[in-house]
Amino acid sequence: MHKLFKSAPLPFQGQKRNFVNEFSKALEQFPANATYVDLFGGSGLLSRVTKDIHPEARVIFNDYDNFSQRLAAIPQTNILLVKLRKLTATSGRQIKIPVDIKRCILKAVKAHENKFGYVDYVTLSSSLLFSGKYATNFEELSKQTMYNTVRKSDIAEATGYLDGLEVVREDYKQVHQEFKDANVVYLLDPPYLSTDTASYGSDKYWKLKDYLDVLELLEGSKYFYFTSNKSSIIELMEWFETTTLVDNPFKWSTTTTRENTVNYQHKYDDIMIFKQ
Ligand SMILES: C[S@@+](CC[C@H](N)C(=O)[O-])C[C@H]1O[C@@H](n2cnc3c(N)ncnc32)[C@H](O)[C@@H]1O
Repeated sequence: MHKLFKSAPLPFQGQKRNFVNEFSKALEQFPANATYVDLFGGSGLLSRVTKDIHPEARVIFNDYDNFSQRLAAIPQTNILLVKLRKLTATSGRQIKIPVDIKRCILKAVKAHENKFGYVDYVTLSSSLLFSGKYATNFEELSKQTMYNTVRKSDIAEATGYLDGLEVVREDYKQVHQEFKDANVVYLLDPPYLSTDTASYGSDKYWKLKDYLDVLELLEGSKYFYFTSNKSSIIELMEWFETTTLVDNPFKWSTTTTRENTVNYQHKYDDIMIFKQ
C-alpha cells in the first residue's frame, strides 16, 4: 500500500487539497464499482483520492497538462534544485535575486534542459517567482523577476501516486464522449472563470460560454462539480430556474467596444449596446 496523498506531490495551481477530507467523505456515499472520470484532472489528486476510497472502481485521470511527465522527472528536478540552492545560498530568503545570480540560475536551467531534454518549469516557478506567477518555458522564466523561495528540501518521490489510475490525455469533451454509460460518475473541476491559466497546458482563458458547455454534462449524470464564489455560476443557474427569458435581449442590437488599458499586462473592453 502506498502512502495516502493529502495533496499533489508537486505544486499545482488549483489542486483540490483543501477538499480532500470532504471529498473523501462524500465519495463514500457513491458506488464502489462505478467508473469515475476526472475530466479536468490537473494534478490527478481527485483521481488518486477516489481510487484510495474505492479501490475496486475504474478511475480515469484525464492528464491534460501531462502531470505524469512532471512526476517522472522528480529525481531530475531535485538535481536542479540542489544547484539552485547553492546558487542562492548568499541571497536572503523571499528577497529579489540579484541580476548576476539570476544569470547563473538561467545558465544552470538551460544546461539542465540540454542534458535531460526536460525542465519542470511549474515547479521551478514556485521556487523562483513571486507567489502565483508561473513560467512554462525558458523564455518566460528569463523575463520574470526572481525571488529566493527555493525549497529547502528535496521533493519526495511520488511512489504509487498513479497506481491503478487509467491515464488519458484529451479535451474533456472527447473523454466525456468515451465514458457515457449509466455507471459513470464525473469529477468536474474546470479552470476558474477568466483566471490566469498560465500554468496549465492550454493558455486559453475560460469564458462564460466554456463554463456553460461544461454544465450541459451535468444533466442526468452523477457528478462532483467544483467552482468558486468568484464565478457566479450557481446564481446564474438559480436565476434561469425562476425566469422565463426565451429570447436573447440583445438580439438586433448594435455593439461597440472600447479597449481599456489597466497596465501593460491587463486590458479589458468596455461595451456599449444600443437598440432603437
Ligand atoms: C482547476 S484545474 C483541476 C485541478 C484538479 N482537480 C486537481 O486537484 O489538481 C483545471 C484543469 O483543467 C485543465 N483543462 C483546461 N482546458 C481543458 C480541456 N479543454 N480539457 C481538459 N482539461 C482542461 C487545466 O489545464 C487544469 O489542469
